[in-house]
Amino acid sequence: MQHDAIAVVDFGGQYAHLIATKIRRLHVLAEIRQPEDPIEVFHHYKGIILSGSPSLSSFGEDSGYTKTIYDLDVPIVGFCFGHQEIAKHYGGTVVHGGREWGPADLQIVGSCPLFKGLAATERVWMSHFDSVTSVGPGFEEVGYTTLGESGAPHRFAAISSNSLRRYGFQFHPEVDNTVHGTEMIANFVFATCGCQPSWTMERYVEERIEQVRQQVGDQSVFLLASGGVDSTVAARLLGLAIGPERLHLLHVDNGLMRKGESQAVLDTFRQFGLDRNLHFVDATSTFLSALDGVVEPEQKRRIIGDAFVRVFENEARRLGIEGHLLGQGTIYPDTIETGGTRRADTIKTHHNRVPVIERMIGQGRVVEPLADLYKVEVRELGEKLDIPHDLVWRHPFPGPGLGVRLLCSTGAESRDGFDQTEPAVAAVSARYGLAAMALPIKSVGVKADLRSYEHPVLVTGQAPWETLLELAAALFGEAPGINRCIWNLGAACPARVRPLAATVTRDRLDLLRDADHIVMEGLRRHRIDEAIWQCPTVLVPMEVDGCGREFVIVRPIHSERAMTATPAALPDALLSELRNEILRLPGVSGLALDITTKPPGTIEWE
Ligand code: XMP
Repeated sequence: MQHDAIAVVDFGGQYAHLIATKIRRLHVLAEIRQPEDPIEVFHHYKGIILSGSPSLSSFGEDSGYTKTIYDLDVPIVGFCFGHQEIAKHYGGTVVHGGREWGPADLQIVGSCPLFKGLAATERVWMSHFDSVTSVGPGFEEVGYTTLGESGAPHRFAAISSNSLRRYGFQFHPEVDNTVHGTEMIANFVFATCGCQPSWTMERYVEERIEQVRQQVGDQSVFLLASGGVDSTVAARLLGLAIGPERLHLLHVDNGLMRKGESQAVLDTFRQFGLDRNLHFVDATSTFLSALDGVVEPEQKRRIIGDAFVRVFENEARRLGIEGHLLGQGTIYPDTIETGGTRRADTIKTHHNRVPVIERMIGQGRVVEPLADLYKVEVRELGEKLDIPHDLVWRHPFPGPGLGVRLLCSTGAESRDGFDQTEPAVAAVSARYGLAAMALPIKSVGVKADLRSYEHPVLVTGQAPWETLLELAAALFGEAPGINRCIWNLGAACPARVRPLAATVTRDRLDLLRDADHIVMEGLRRHRIDEAIWQCPTVLVPMEVDGCGREFVIVRPIHSERAMTATPAALPDALLSELRNEILRLPGVSGLALDITTKPPGTIEWE
């Protein structure tokens, strides 16, 4: 069957693939295309979408794409970088400035068919350094953004030329946090491009099973099964495609698991009938000795990824199944955040995307049946494949486990840029009547499609949740060098915090396991574990006013696809229980709640 289709031109933005996914969920085929693809490639599409990018349009970066797409008589819309390129191509201007991260309110003005059916003000999601400051002939501004009561409006957040059928949004309608983003995309796909919906998930499953059969042929697969939703759905799909006899599962305890996790995983696999060829190895010593003395987050991630492959190969040899293909439950964010498309920046190296695995992929030795799905699609697929509800809706847990939640340090303070950061932090926090300090440590984040490795701000004081979030957004907008904001759950505002030298050790992992267990039990007790998408607990080696060794941070978030996230509020009763239990753990110097959106912070700290 011939489907109506939309081309998504991938300039390397973190969300390019998400645009295609959102369209496929409207039952319309969407295909990722490269910016330099020849013009003939674009001829059969009913519309074109230009994605965001880590490149800067204001500096003319990545401008060598197939510009003859603008001569085609089909509707084109651009998001973020794509929006700026459209503005520029038709005579507008783009400057480096006017950055926004996270939420903003779009004030809709003028007429744009993509906003049909929407309110005059819409909550949208931003992540940009560059901005459009004027438009060329035939274009009009159809939206500008504001945030809260303070700050000047950001103009030209949406532009439109109804006669040319060219549109641009500075924000990202493809991310879940743009509340009516799907409606905007649907207006483009159906009303403006005239597509018919004929593409379904059932069809996707059939095609995927067929692809797996072709790739695997008469070989067998040895799947790394963490017990999380991704590897479990991958196991089920592989079982359907090649039969249970040719599927071996390997669960590795890497010593970085939660309390009692490996045993629970093995029990679940048995209950679920996936134990025919189920193998288990306790590789704690292998992982911990490989991580010995390592501090740098990316190096830790690579070491963990490499150790998985070594353990896999050893086990395969021991079991006499060396020839098997390596199966992984990799999903799309693992690829995109590792810089796995041609232009995307490396935000963090996911454990299943380290160079040795990339080489095996090049040799055709890796099977990843979910590699172009997001978590929400994996869950939908899991339910279609009759995987029990509890398993499908478990909180995601990263492959490197607690390894990326246990921050390490040489003990050296990192205060680069503090001469500009500190006055800005003081000015913003004074406006809100709260105390705040930039911390001399760093964590990983993502800003305008680029990796950031910057400082958190610790805020102390009482304020309504919405005010805290507004303060965090103001800090991200106004204070340079900041990518996170944490809210102090301890009593007083510290006078001095100091990082301490620390690496990955069993003792630190045990302390983190205890703190994490308290948090997860608390979420279950208050029956909010399903409402919250994920809740990492993080340990930072840091003393506070000369006391303690480990600062604990709890990061409850709401998300759907992990590409964006908003901080989740916890009930007051739970906060005081956490205070009581966690601050009593030996060596704990403080406790805070992470109130950072993604962007500018990632979900995990490393
Ligand atoms: P970030 O921290 O990048 O995380 O916002 C997005 C989602 O991915 C999970 N995550 C990983 N999952 N291997 C995984 O299987 C990894 O190396 C990895 N790193 C992050 C993270 O827990 C969140 O759900």
